Amino acid sequence: MSDRSLRISVAGIELGSPVLLAAGTAGVLGEMRDVLDVTQLGGIVTKSITKEPRAGNAFPRITFARAGMMNAIGLANPGIDAFVRDEGPKATSIGCPIIGSVAGDRLDDYVEVASKLASIEGIRGIEANVSCPNVHSGLEFGSDPGALRELITAMAAAIGDKPMFVKLSPVTVGTPHTIVDLARVAIESGAMGLTLTNTVPAMGIDVKSRRPILANVTGGLSGPAIHPIVVRLVHLVYRGLAKDASVPIIAAGGVTRWQDAAEFVLAGASAVQIGAGSFASPRAGVKLRKGLLRWVQTQGAGTIAELVGQVRLSE
Ligand SMILES: Cc1cc2nc3c(=O)[nH]c(=O)nc-3n(C[C@H](O)[C@H](O)[C@H](O)COP(=O)(O)O)c2cc1C
Repeated sequence: MSDRSLRISVAGIELGSPVLLAAGTAGVLGEMRDVLDVTQLGGIVTKSITKEPRAGNAFPRITFARAGMMNAIGLANPGIDAFVRDEGPKATSIGCPIIGSVAGDRLDDYVEVASKLASIEGIRGIEANVSCPNVHSGLEFGSDPGALRELITAMAAAIGDKPMFVKLSPVTVGTPHTIVDLARVAIESGAMGLTLTNTVPAMGIDVKSRRPILANVTGGLSGPAIHPIVVRLVHLVYRGLAKDASVPIIAAGGVTRWQDAAEFVLAGASAVQIGAGSFASPRAGVKLRKGLLRWVQTQGAGTIAELVGQVRLSE
């Protein structure tokens, strides 16, 4: 079976593989070229870029949990102007499609960063990381439908014809809105795709010192521990909205083996991202290709696209 069966088009971006590297877990842009053949990947999402450079949170800001990892990096990044100057010119020659991730704490900053990223030739699409508190309300943009609508509408207008993916949080506790409600707002406001999901809010405590393990006290859990949670969310959003709207989902949450990626595809994802999995095995994004190819073949499909959303719910 040829590698062609793993090709898939996601919001108009042609991917050679449905497996991408997730924002913040693959360096700022192309650092993973040193450890794996990135031409075998579907793409790389950049570190989330903000308007100003950020040093991030105090250390320790990463810790390994039993079935994954916790981080409170705090969006350490060079800022948009340094990114455009130092990384932008490399974006066309990385060897795979690049998606630019945008973060911020006010609408104007998101819009400026998104428009500058989108003007870089090698950036094929924008991912809006909306799991950031809005400086005005303190609520995350992604959990406040009004703020999300305003933000995504303004960003979509600023990035021309490049597609935008909105990356949602897996947790909507504290708001009456479900992830399907928030995904609907994102799509109505101009999102061409959804990335599901960011990390799950979490905390660890060292029982000897009685101190929080992360200097930031709390952080985000990712890796295999969150995989089944995200499979359900992908399933809900696909069935509740994305399928009928023909809006592709990119799933992120605990992919370490081909089976995890296949599960996401059956739940409704057109592509997947690997985050924590690359820390455990830096070549994970390439290693799972063979298994995925074989799976497509044994399922009797010509391409992986035919398997998107094909979970059998009843016989
Ligand atoms: C160390 C680390 C840094 C991250 N930084 C970002 C980031 O800058 N922007 C973002 O949208 N997500 C960030 N994430 C979240 C991942 O992109 C991904 O959504 C999440 O970890 C779930 O995938 P996983 O279980 O495969 O890690 C980060 C995750 C980790 C582990």
